[in-house]
Amino acid sequence: ALPRDLDGVRIVVSAGGTREQLDPVRFLGNRSSGKQGYALARVAAQRGAEVTLVAAHTVALPDPAGVRVARVSTAAELESAVNAASLDADVVVMAAAVADFRPAARAEHKIKKKDDGSAPTVVLERNPDILAGLVARRRPGQLLVGFAAETGDEHGSVLDHAHKKLKRKGVDLLVVNAVGEGRAFEVDENTGWLLSADGAEQRIPLGAKTELATTVWDAVSELLRESGRP
Ligand code: PMT
Repeated sequence: ALPRDLDGVRIVVSAGGTREQLDPVRFLGNRSSGKQGYALARVAAQRGAEVTLVAAHTVALPDPAGVRVARVSTAAELESAVNAASLDADVVVMAAAVADFRPAARAEHKIKKKDDGSAPTVVLERNPDILAGLVARRRPGQLLVGFAAETGDEHGSVLDHAHKKLKRKGVDLLVVNAVGEGRAFEVDENTGWLLSADGAEQRIPLGAKTELATTVWDAVSELLRESGRP
């Protein structure tokens, strides 16, 4: 049986990939399936937490048992859902792959091909950084966990960069995923490192996304215990 060390802890997990509409039938998106976020939500609920899962385009996955699921599409929708759920949350984990940019304008009708053979130019604008907003409005004692999808596998450079990212982002824990050919996105396994604000670094061996989730909750549980949470 799993430990009940997250009993009553209020947790928000975001999962999946946001989509930014170009016109009624086209969007800019990414390859996140939501599997990693769902594994986090499922394991947290099994360990006793009250979990809200904010899911962007994860239709292929069944709702995890005992978890409240809010479905969203765009980064803006994910932001409002995560912010609302985070108001009274003890822990927020941002596992979703959020679009950094969106089309500056959304065409009301399907964009048509022109007879002159020209192609349209898509102008993009920035989306909000949701995690940065959470850090700025953090409740006392609230733990914030980020994910970072990094390419390349030279241990030094990826990790140096990730440690800097953790500092810059101001999160308590950062999961660094090595992405690239057939890794992390969509598949059932994941690997990487778990970095802590105190500089600690833990290698997460290749394994089921449930195992990575367990490593994250073990670290969160430890931080909650250290902060004197009952
Ligand atoms: O869904 P799966 O198929 O199971 O794949 C899992 C995963 C690879 C998507 C997941 O493990 C993962 O790494 N998710 C984060 C991917 C990502 O978008 O990383 P990033 O480096 O772009 O973003 C860094 C952090 O900031 C993330 O916590 C992200 O949620 C957050 N962010 C990013 C952009 C933005 N505008 N707002 C944010 O809050």
